[in-house]
Amino acid sequence: MPITVLEPTKQLEGLYTVLRDRETERAQFIFFADRIIRLLVEKGLDMLPVTPKTVITPTGAEYQGVEFQGHICGVSIIRAGESMEQGLRACCRSVRIGKILIQRNEETAKPHLYYEKLPTDIADRYVFLLDPMLATGGSALMAIDVLMKRGVPPERIIFLNLIASPEGLDNFNRLHPKVHIVTGKIDSNLDDKAYIYPGLGDFGDRYYST
Ligand code: URA
Repeated sequence: MPITVLEPTKQLEGLYTVLRDRETERAQFIFFADRIIRLLVEKGLDMLPVTPKTVITPTGAEYQGVEFQGHICGVSIIRAGESMEQGLRACCRSVRIGKILIQRNEETAKPHLYYEKLPTDIADRYVFLLDPMLATGGSALMAIDVLMKRGVPPERIIFLNLIASPEGLDNFNRLHPKVHIVTGKIDSNLDDKAYIYPGLGDFGDRYYST
């Protein structure tokens, strides 16, 4: 399974330390989460194909660069995934963003699909799937089933998340091994409530303060 983990620089470790700290207040949490989200988006964009492109610089030099190929769109898993939309828009100005509402039953931790609204031409695009925490992977796996039913090949889906669990990655490996995963950290395990451990708690609650 193609999985990319952000390079564990000291800067990145500092960002995660703020997010993981239960004393961190909402404004700080948002600011630091947004910085990591931006890094994830840039890493995901780096997976898109490019073709050679030559330009002339203001000094008159010929510069042999590249040009991005392929259209993209975002799909956020409501509600926590919506926190990642701004980071995607910051890098891709007029990007279309679809939404999928899948909620997990708090007792069984099993996901249920309530709502989907996706770009009509999604089958012709690379899809950045947005959900900050890959715990069991139940919601994201269900979202991928929805995308594939709409004609998106799994190898054109790039799933961005801030923290992944080994259990969630195993589930992806079993069920959707062609989907690209870009994560910032792989944590130790899931706890008995299917929260990522050590994790950062409930991302949506902390980002939206609910
Ligand atoms: N969702 C979260 O917000 N946190 C977890 O640890 C798991 C799922």
